[in-house]
Amino acid sequence: MMSPKIEEAARLIAQAKHLVAFTGAGISAESGIPTFRGPGGIWDKYDPVVLEIDYFIKNYDQVWPVIKDMFYTVIDRAQPNPAHYTLAQWEKDGLLKAVITQNIDNLHQKAGSRNVIEYHGNTRQAVCLDCGRTVPLTKEILSRDVPHCPHCGGRLKPDFVFFGEPIPPEAARKSLEHTLKSDVYLVIGTTGIIMPASLLPYEAKQNGATIIEINLNPSEYTGRITDIFLQAKAGEILPALGEEIEKLRK
Ligand code: APR
Repeated sequence: MMSPKIEEAARLIAQAKHLVAFTGAGISAESGIPTFRGPGGIWDKYDPVVLEIDYFIKNYDQVWPVIKDMFYTVIDRAQPNPAHYTLAQWEKDGLLKAVITQNIDNLHQKAGSRNVIEYHGNTRQAVCLDCGRTVPLTKEILSRDVPHCPHCGGRLKPDFVFFGEPIPPEAARKSLEHTLKSDVYLVIGTTGIIMPASLLPYEAKQNGATIIEINLNPSEYTGRITDIFLQAKAGEILPALGEEIEKLRK
């Protein structure tokens, strides 16, 4: 027998007209990618200054090996978990309209999601600060301690958003568009403290959406805007919701 909250959440999801999922690092925790905050978080091990754009440019040779250790090594090995696969299935079933993710691990796409809005960019490619080209970050380029542009030998900036950089305008526009259309808004695995990404659930709420939050712990949203708080691992609760929805659709 499922808890009434799960049954209620499943009913809302099944009946949603414009379901949107807003995800953070917590959805990838069960894929072995450390979150930023919380026990064993990235910021326990590394100083956030390395992701400040000015610091990165001034300390290019020192920062790249750290960034590789922070992200590229673990992301390369990571596979989607049942949470990512469930969202991809809901998109295929026509239930889920978009995933807005703060993550740069590409796991939503690996799980089969197609409409993924990468609010903080991605780790798949880099932009050369010297010749301006965008280049895929191949294993060959990443095999160097300090990667350089294969065209001009210049400095490569990963295509994710550093602190001090703007959100990619197209990602910002599409995220807001889906957020304002949404009637049921899933907030999955995020502390809700990094702006401007963290403002999106508030926009959804103000616009009349029902907020269903999935997190191991309460977040900035839980006591403020969350309507249904499912305190559980994303990789467990999302498949359970999927089963409930299947029953409702029979
Ligand atoms: N299932 C669900 N939630 C989980 C799980 C799990 N298995 N494991 C951890 N969580 C939750 C934690 O309780 C926490 O609320 O995931 C959240 C992770 O929070 P953060 O590490 O702060 O990640 P996030 O909110 O995505 O950070 C936002 O901060 O450093 C910047 O750019 C970076 O995109 C990142 C942004």
